[in-house]
Order: sequence, then structure tokens, then C-alpha cells
Amino acid sequence: MAFLRRAFLLLFLQVCLLHVSVLAKVELSMNETVDVYIGDMAEILCQYTSTNSDSKPGFLIQWFVAERGGSRSRLYYADANQKLIDSGTDYTDRINVVTDEKGTRLSIQDVRLSDEREFYCHVNGLAAGSGVRKTHLRVFAPPDVPEIESVTTGISVTKDTPSKVASCETRNGFPKPNITWYRDGEPLMNESGRVNIVILSSRMSNDLYSVQSTLEYKVEKEDKDARFSCEVSFFVPDGIRKFESPSVNITVHYPTTMVELWKESPQGLVKEGDTVELRCQGDGNPPPHFIFNKVEEPDVNFESSRDVLILSSVSRKDSGTYQCHPLKGDGVMEVKGEVELKVHCGPELVGLEEVVQLDEVEGRVVNLSCEALGNPLPSISWNITGSQSWHEVDKKTHKHMTHSVVSVKVTSDITAECNVSSDRGSGVKIFKIKAIPRVTTTAPFTPEGSGVIIVVIIVCLLLLAFLGSVIYFLHKKGKIPCGRSGKQEITKEKTTKDEIVVEMKTNTKNEEAVLLKAVNGDKKGPNDQPL
Ligand SMILES: *[C@@H]1O[C@H](CO)[C@@H](O)[C@H](O)[C@H]1NC(C)=O
Ligand SMILES: *[C@@H]1O[C@H](CO)[C@@H](O)[C@H](O)[C@H]1NC(C)=O
Ligand SMILES: *[C@@H]1O[C@H](CO)[C@@H](O)[C@H](O)[C@H]1NC(C)=O
Ligand SMILES: *[C@@H]1O[C@H](CO)[C@@H](O)[C@H](O)[C@H]1NC(C)=O
Ligand SMILES: *[C@@H]1O[C@H](CO)[C@@H](O)[C@H](O)[C@H]1NC(C)=O
Ligand SMILES: *[C@@H]1O[C@H](CO)[C@@H](O)[C@H](O)[C@H]1NC(C)=O
Ligand SMILES: *[C@@H]1O[C@H](CO)[C@@H](O)[C@H](O)[C@H]1NC(C)=O
Repeated sequence: MAFLRRAFLLLFLQVCLLHVSVLAKVELSMNETVDVYIGDMAEILCQYTSTNSDSKPGFLIQWFVAERGGSRSRLYYADANQKLIDSGTDYTDRINVVTDEKGTRLSIQDVRLSDEREFYCHVNGLAAGSGVRKTHLRVFAPPDVPEIESVTTGISVTKDTPSKVASCETRNGFPKPNITWYRDGEPLMNESGRVNIVILSSRMSNDLYSVQSTLEYKVEKEDKDARFSCEVSFFVPDGIRKFESPSVNITVHYPTTMVELWKESPQGLVKEGDTVELRCQGDGNPPPHFIFNKVEEPDVNFESSRDVLILSSVSRKDSGTYQCHPLKGDGVMEVKGEVELKVHCGPELVGLEEVVQLDEVEGRVVNLSCEALGNPLPSISWNITGSQSWHEVDKKTHKHMTHSVVSVKVTSDITAECNVSSDRGSGVKIFKIKAIPRVTTTAPFTPEGSGVIIVVIIVCLLLLAFLGSVIYFLHKKGKIPCGRSGKQEITKEKTTKDEIVVEMKTNTKNEEAVLLKAVNGDKKGPNDQPL
């Protein structure tokens, strides 16, 4: 029935065209394309004007849609007497046509992806002429926001080829959206050997597109802090729109190139009986297991946890140089950390005090010297009890050193405190001088001549070094074992910044013991207590 009517009409139009076209013409105006979001209503307007303006328009209007095969199906027909929507088409229930003297408007409800076709407007003005034009209806579906997923396992920088770093997917888009990758906001493009972007797109059951992009990337150590993101760009009726994904990071594995070993606890001096914790840290990721040993016994490995060595109840024999190095494995280089451990004994080191005990013959004058190194420059103050006659005979400061000498006359047992302080901390050195009655001296005592013995003690507190010396002026004539009136060498010890180190050179101690023995006639060295 519809077919017959159409055949008749076409024939009719043909006849009319032949007769009228030379006389008059209908000018049709339609937009080439009409864009619409999926689900919305599309409106396709077909405007007409006749060159034969005199003739009263008796328009015959038809809307057709192009079928996949190339044929056209009529959707609507209207003439002076009737208006009808053709039944049995995809559009029967979804279209509406409004026509007036200037044009006809086809409205399509609830646009689907399958409506992306060409719609034809046929107008036959009889005496006024006829015409046909078309509009391409374009349908748009904005895709879902992209979903990004990074690789959660660590990616090694030692791999030669790009590794999968992240994948990004967006769904339900039409037409096919694009995905762009970003590293810290900078777009990433395919780059041989460095960046490889693999795109996979598919048509979903609803005919919309799903696009998946995988970023393969040659990872460097710097990428440990990098943020990767993807962006989906898609066409919409009025241009291009973009959605950005959240950014993700990756775990980068890189080899250890540097190792540090330090004493975590206790802070300050290590005494016998302490539990010492040495911690090893490298710059690699993941942190390797470390092996600990002592330089003095290179073949003996300590039992340790991943990066901590615990030495419980240490004794002086635990002193030495400790080393840690990463357990051998892929990409592990020959690197090691070292720390020197010194275990001190003697309770006199408790707190920040130390005591130097000396015996001295009554009546003698003793020069006590105290030196402190530090930045900022430390100051020295003295508190001397037991002697009525003492005074500072020398005070020097230069650069980061303060030096003070007090001259003390031994009249009874003396306690002399040298207090060194700066805003980095303070330390006290105590000299305890036991006065020995002159009558017990067996060695000849003569006021002439002089010898000097210096007990070298370095106290390093924070950045503060504290050097104290005891200078004896022995008024003695003739020969005494160290009678050369010269100073023993002051021993300076490399010190770590958070340790107090008390050192006495063995030979100095012996010489002093010998000297004092000679001086005092005493069998016992005055400085036998350990420092
Ligand atoms: C063509 O499209 C424009 C913009 O959408 C619209 O303003 C105009 O009315 C349309 N013309 C016709 C003939 O449909
Ligand atoms: C990158 O290169 C791969 C092949 O190496 C190709 O499949 C992919 O489409 C390219 N990606 C882009 C965004 O050009
Ligand atoms: C997607 O990429 C193609 C090829 O580079 C380009 O022609 C097109 O305009 C892009 N589409 C969008 C929405 O950016
Ligand atoms: C990666 O990002 C998460 C969350 O922003 C953060 O908790 C994590 O520490 C980051 N990891 C690295 C290796 O930067
Ligand atoms: C103590 O030292 C000062 C400065 O070095 C020196 O001048 C003084 O003579 C010394 N005192 C004695 C008793 O030797
Ligand atoms: C000086 O030393 C004595 C005895 O050690 C002590 O009692 C006194 O408090 C000290 N004075 C100062 C100012 O430190
Ligand atoms: C040492 O001197 C500083 C500064 O004068 C003071 O704060 C500190 O208490 C003194 N220490 C001792 C043990 O006298």
C-alpha cells in the first residue's frame, strides 16, 4: 500500500518537475549536520522558499531516512488534505513534524546511536517547483570518567625495555574517545625505547566505545616521585571536552649505591653493660637486607635483623670498627657503611663529668689547663675548692678554641672544676688533687728546675671539644726521668659529634706514672684508674 503510494508520488513528482522546473523552483535550506546527545531530542529543520512567489504554495512534504543498504524509508507525508506518520518504521513512535508556510521541522525523541543517519526533506510545491535536501544527524555519548590503575609491584630501573606502568580505561563513549597520558602534567608520546602507548578499543554491547590504553614506560629513579595520569578527550556537539583521571604513583626499584651506618642508641658515650643499637641505611629501594661484621673480624657476620644490629651488654672488647653492606643480590653494588664503636668503662663517665685524680706534694704549685673546642666558641669557668691561693694565669681564645690555665698552690686536697659551656651544651672536668705531706717524699725535693707533664684529655660534647690538661711545674733540680723541660705531645683525637671521648695516651700515662713515682717516691701510679 505504502509502496504503491510512493511509486505513484514519484511518478507524479517527475511529471511535475518536467513541467514546472523551468518555470519555478523551491529552494530548500537545511543544516548539513545536526548534533545531538544520546537520549535527547533532535530537531531537524527544513526551510523553503519558492522562486515563484506568486503561486500559492500547495506543498507536498515528505521526510525520509537513509537505510543502511542505501535505500530510503519514508517517515512522514503531508499534503493539503492529510498528514501521516508512516507506520512500521523505527521512528513511528518517536517523531513529530510541525509544518508551516516557511518550513517543516522533524523532531525525534530519545535519540539513539542508530539515529546517526541522513534525513531527507522532500518538498513539492507543484506549480512552485520541488526540491530535496538532507541533514546528517550526529549522535554523541560522553564517555564515563577514566579509570586509572597503576602497577602495584615495584618496577626496576635496571630493566632495558619499557615496562607496564599503568592502564587507563574509559567506557560508553561515542564517537571513539582518545586517551592521553601525562607524567607530572607533561603529555607522554610514543618514543622508541622509552614510551610505548598501547591502545585497545572495542564496541560494547550497547554499541558505545570502550577504550583502554596501557602505558609502557622505561622507569628511572626520578620516577619514584612522579605522578601519572590519563585524560580522555571526546567530541561533543559544541567541540571537544576532556576528563582527567586522578593521578597515581608507582613503586620504583633501584639499586643501593650508598650505605650509612650509625649508632642509634645509646646517645653519647657507650659504657660497659650498655645495649648498643647500630642502624644501617642505604639509598636503594627496596631496602636490602644488610650484613654486619667487624673490620677486625671480617669473616664473622653478626646475627641481625634487616637493618639493625643489636649488641647487648657490651664490654670493651666490643670496641672496634663495624661495617654493614647489602646482602648480595641483583643490582647490588659493592658498597658499605662504617662506624667506630668505643666502649668506655668507669662510672666516672656517667653524666658529662669526668675526674682526673692526681697526687701532689704539699706546697707545690700546679698549673691546671683546660681547653675547649667548639662552634660556637665555648666559655670556661673554674670552681676550685681546697686551695686559698689560685688564679688564672693564662686565657686565650682563637677561632673555635678557648684555653684557660689556673695556677693552684697545693695546700690541702683540692677539687678543681673546669666548666665548659656553650649553647650546644656543657661539660665539666674535675681535677682531684690529693695533697701528700712533704715528709713522705723520698725523692729529693728541690724548688729549682721544672718539668711539665700534660695529661691529655679531650672531651667532645655535641660539637664541643673539651681539652683539659694538668701541667705540673716541678721545682726540682737535677735529673728526673722526664726532666727535660718540655711538653709531652698533646694528642688530639678525631671525635664524633655526639660522643664524649676521654683518651689518655698509654705512653704519656706511663711516663707520668714514672715521673710521679720518681717525684713522689710512691709505688702506685696516680692515674691508674681507667679513663
Ligand atoms: C542550522 O543550525 C543553526 C545552529 O544550530 C541554527 O541556528 C539554524 O537555525 C539551523 N538552520 C537550519 C536551516 O536548520
Ligand atoms: C604507539 O606505538 C604502538 C606500537 O609501538 C602503537 O600500537 C600505538 O598505537 C602507538 N600509540 C600512539 C598513541 O600513537
Ligand atoms: C583523537 O585522535 C585523533 C588522531 O590523533 C584526532 O584526529 C582526533 O581529533 C582526536 N579526537 C579528540 C576528541 O581529541
Ligand atoms: C603513592 O601515593 C600514595 C597516596 O597518595 C601515598 O600514600 C604513597 O606514599 C605514595 N607512594 C610513593 C612511593 O610515593
Ligand atoms: C703557669 O702557666 C703560666 C702560663 O703558661 C706561666 O706563666 C706560669 O709561670 C706557670 N706557673 C708556674 C708556677 O710555673
Ligand atoms: C663549686 O664546687 C663545690 C664543691 O664541689 C660545690 O659545692 C659548689 O656548688 C660549686 N659552685 C658552683 C658555682 O658550681
Ligand atoms: C657550667 O656553666 C654553665 C653556664 O654558666 C651552667 O649553666 C652550668 O650549670 C655549669 N655546670 C656546672 C656543673 O657547674
